[in-house]
Amino acid sequence: MPITLAFDVYGTLIDTHGVIVALEKHVGNKAAEFSRTWREKQLEYSFRRGLMQNYENFARCTSDALDYTCAYFKVPLSQQDKDELLGAYKVLPAFTDVAEGLARAKNAGFRLFAFSNGSADAVETLLKHAGIREYFIGVVSVDEMKSFKPNPAVYSHFLKRAGAVGADAWLISGNPFDVIGAISAGMRGAWVKRTPDALFDPWGIKPTLTVTSLLHLAEQIDQECRKA
Ligand code: LAC
Repeated sequence: MPITLAFDVYGTLIDTHGVIVALEKHVGNKAAEFSRTWREKQLEYSFRRGLMQNYENFARCTSDALDYTCAYFKVPLSQQDKDELLGAYKVLPAFTDVAEGLARAKNAGFRLFAFSNGSADAVETLLKHAGIREYFIGVVSVDEMKSFKPNPAVYSHFLKRAGAVGADAWLISGNPFDVIGAISAGMRGAWVKRTPDALFDPWGIKPTLTVTSLLHLAEQIDQECRKA
């Protein structure tokens, strides 16, 4: 049975903090903190919409979170400035290890998918812009389920769409909540711990594998599968 890899997009392949440069123009040395709050609120809004069963797509969570963050930092941006920032969000950069890591995983025979909270259109645009679309068999978006990660239903949906079973499918993510969600839903999970001080939630569910970049992911998954 070939192994399927579901790559999370925002925060795993694509660096959401790529907006910091665009933010500096508006908030100066608060740009990093602003970006962090914006990202945390975006995810919180997705979690809440999932729980409330009041779905609007991820772009809406991103734009509502930007409004919140502007109010929080008392930065009254014009609609044009906000549109510019949301535009930058559509063409965020990939992390530097990503293209090489994906190429190696594809050459090693893994089946690669992008699996995201983002809508399929948004993800297609990001991957194409970053020059990494060619590595993936397809894009699976939670939008098809009108819910968000970590609802177990969206991981099941991924497996169905990818024609895979949990034991042979890995979620690869820099977001601990996503790794925990996938493992809890019966998949395996690799955590991409890009910075030494990144923390994994102490929930008693550990990543199947922890990697510091995507460069050696294929070898590490291969070794892990041989152990099992
Ligand atoms: C995604 C979220 C987790 O791309 O950022 O699914």
